[in-house]
Amino acid sequence: MEKKIKILAFAGSLRKQSYNRALLQAALELAPPTCNIEIFDLKNIPLYNQDEEQNIPTAVQSLKEKVRAADALLIATPEYSYSIPGVLKNALDWGSRPYGDNAWNNKPVALIGASMGMMGSARAQYHVRQVFVSLNMHALNKPELMVATAQDKFDASGRLTDSTTRQKMTELLKALVEYTRRHSPIE
Ligand SMILES: Cc1cc2nc3c(=O)[nH]c(=O)nc-3n(C[C@H](O)[C@H](O)[C@H](O)COP(=O)(O)O)c2cc1C
Repeated sequence: MEKKIKILAFAGSLRKQSYNRALLQAALELAPPTCNIEIFDLKNIPLYNQDEEQNIPTAVQSLKEKVRAADALLIATPEYSYSIPGVLKNALDWGSRPYGDNAWNNKPVALIGASMGMMGSARAQYHVRQVFVSLNMHALNKPELMVATAQDKFDASGRLTDSTTRQKMTELLKALVEYTRRHSPIE
């Protein structure tokens, strides 16, 4: 039997009722049996400070270890001022340092996002994709998942209720598993 793909997931939002966090919960619910998803919370990652690079904070160390142990990543990004929220960019920067110790290197990744606007985090996602190039991460191109007007797609408990989005999420997770297997065959 094929080994399950290990996916590490995190959201670029720290707020408890985050739609992006809720989107990752939906991923847990809709994940195919061919993968395991673990959600990592970025809340303990401090602001990046190059002075601390030789004495990496524990939370950053933990993130880097989990990234390295994962076969693939799933990142849910909000859109702030048409771009990447600082929480996410900060974590990406930390994970890439110190120079020569880039935990993201060669990692397959699927990017998703939810926003309250009409663009569903699209502008932020394309900025994050540019950062992926710098970090040598391998982004799944399609399907894309951009959840617009997120306030209409989740119920009060944070469950994703929109059937089209649920279907898209299911397809995306299947595609990520297949992409990861093609990228580095896992016995
Ligand atoms: C600083 C800030 C900037 C924002 N800029 C945008 C934006 O450019 N486009 C957009 O669709 N929503 C924007 N929003 C609204 C977010 O879509 C909304 O707060 C969303 O809930 C954030 O994701 P979260 O629920 O995962 O925290 C912004 C929110 C904040 C706090």
